[in-house]
Order: sequence, then structure tokens, then C-alpha cells
Amino acid sequence: MSLSLPQRPRRNRISASRRDMVCEIRLSPGDLILPLFVHDGEVDDPIDSLPGCYRLTLPGLVRTAQEATALGIPAIALFPVIPERAKTSDAAEAWNDAGLVPRAVAALKENCPGLTVITDVALDPYNSDGHDGLVERMPDSSLRVLNDETVECLCKQALCHAKAGADVVAPSDMMDGRVGAIRSALDSAGHTEVSILSYAAKFASAFYGPFRGALGSAPKEGDKKTYQLDPANAREALREIALDEAEGADMLMVKPAGPFLDVVFRARQATHLPLAAYQVSGEYLMLKSAAAVGWLDEKAAVLESLLGIRRAGADMILTYFAMDAARWLREEAGA
Ligand code: PBG
Repeated sequence: MSLSLPQRPRRNRISASRRDMVCEIRLSPGDLILPLFVHDGEVDDPIDSLPGCYRLTLPGLVRTAQEATALGIPAIALFPVIPERAKTSDAAEAWNDAGLVPRAVAALKENCPGLTVITDVALDPYNSDGHDGLVERMPDSSLRVLNDETVECLCKQALCHAKAGADVVAPSDMMDGRVGAIRSALDSAGHTEVSILSYAAKFASAFYGPFRGALGSAPKEGDKKTYQLDPANAREALREIALDEAEGADMLMVKPAGPFLDVVFRARQATHLPLAAYQVSGEYLMLKSAAAVGWLDEKAAVLESLLGIRRAGADMILTYFAMDAARWLREEAGA
């Protein structure tokens, strides 16, 4: 018979300092990436579907990025709002060297030293069809999203961003083979220091709704299920993770984060590359709306949601809460 001492796990929680000692994981502003929207308008325009977020002018973008840097946020992810009249079925605006993204990247590189600028590589903001790739109409009138033709466009888009000074290009389109193709295109043009953050496991999620509202980028017809992953499929997500690593991605992403924490965890076990997770617009809006009517403590709920994503294994979190979270974390650290 063994002597059984009473087990009292509560001893480790008895005071703030003892809880601090045994704390397993900590969030810091350095883990966060701030997504920002830019447009060619006259004013910073509040986004109805994302309260607290704006379609920023170039000066507004630079000012916000400087605030983020001052808070210890290392990177921003840039999303352009393209007017309907500039959208075409060949999405050619996506690699216009005088376009909004190259101009925004140049302004950020000039005014925000040290900031890592991540650009989104996908055709949906520029494509009159609203899909991430080029679209072909089939004889039975259904739509087909073309893979290899799209990959050629994505390479031109990535090169255009790299020339403008982007530090990291982030293909979010889910075409097959695009990471390898973009890597060779960048390398052949001498952009060996530009990183690829691949949206490797991107699911066909209902939680992108508010983002598509912000950009006016919802598909005009059909859905994205022929390229984005089925939310039921974690093994298939791991296959995408493995392929993008093999094709030369520098960092990988799982998206959305909250409903797919098991995928974040399994991806963390499956690769040694840095792993990002994207707390997407719908996750943001759920927390924001519940806090707005007073049923959630915004700060506590947001920090808990981010901690959960870190605990599951993400090294970096893209979140529209990045600025608020960084402020709260600095307050808590007494900074
Ligand atoms: C599209 C893209 C989307 C998001 C980032 N890049 C939407 C989509 O795939 O339809 C969503 C981000 C969010 O919801 O916050 N290339």
C-alpha cells in the first residue's frame, strides 16, 4: 500500500506571483501581425463589417503602421481595396507596378524602418469574378477556376510586390504548385531575401464574410470550395502543409484559427517551419459584437482567444485585435 499524500494542485495558483512562476506560455506583441486595409480614397473610411477597422489612405496606413511598430508589433499584412472599375477578368491590376499595393509598400518601407511588410498574393481583389484565380466559363455554363494560368499571374504579382520592397509575400489563393513557382520567379529575379508565408491550410470558411464585405471581394458566382479546403479535412490540410514546405515556403499558415485549433496543433507537430494562424474577420466580429452589447469582457476574451491560438502551437497570429492586444499586454507588463 503506497502512502498517498493529498494532491493539492491549487498550491500552484495561490498567489499572483506563484501563478506567474508556473505560467507555461506568454503572449507578447512580438507574436502579433496586424492586417491593414488600404484604399485610394480621400479619408480613412470606417468598415461597417469590422468595427474599429478602416480602409486607410496612404498617410493613414503609414501612421497606423508607425503606431503598431511603437507598440512592438513586428509586421503588418496589407490588403488593398480596389474600386469595381479597376477589376477585370484577367485581374491585370494585380501586377501593375504603379498600383495601390506597390505604392503602399514603398510608402511603408520609406516611413516605417524595421517594419516587416507582408503582401497578399491572390487575384480576388482585382478579379471582376471575385475568385482568387482566373475563371473560365464551361460549355454547361458552370465556372472553373484555372490553376496553372493563375499561378503565372501570381508569380507576376509576387514579383511586382518584391520590386516595390515587400519583405514577405503571402499567397492566399490555394492554387496547386504556386509556392514553388513563386520561389523560382523571385530567385530568378534576384529577390532571394523575400520570404514566402504560405496560406498552406486555408479552409473554405464562413468566417471570411466580414473581410469580403470590407473589400467588396465576394465571389460573384459560386463558392471557393474547388480550391480552399473542406472544413472537415484535417489530414488533407497536413498534406498541403507538407507540400508547401517541400516547395520552399519559409513560413506556413493555418486559417481560420479558432475553429481549426486541432489543425494548428497537428501542423505544429508536422513541420519545423514557423507557423502562423489567422484569427479571421468573422472571429473578430463575434468577439467584438458580444463585447459591444456587454456580454463579454473584451480585453479578457480577446487575450484568452489569442492565448489559445498560441497554446495550440502558432508562433505568429494575424489578428485585427493586434493593436489593442499589444496595448493591453504592455499595460499588464507595466510598460
Ligand atoms: C483572399 C483572402 C481572404 C482573406 C484573406 N485573403 C478571403 C477569402 O479567401 O475569401 C480572409 C481574411 C479574413 O476573413 O479576415 N485571398
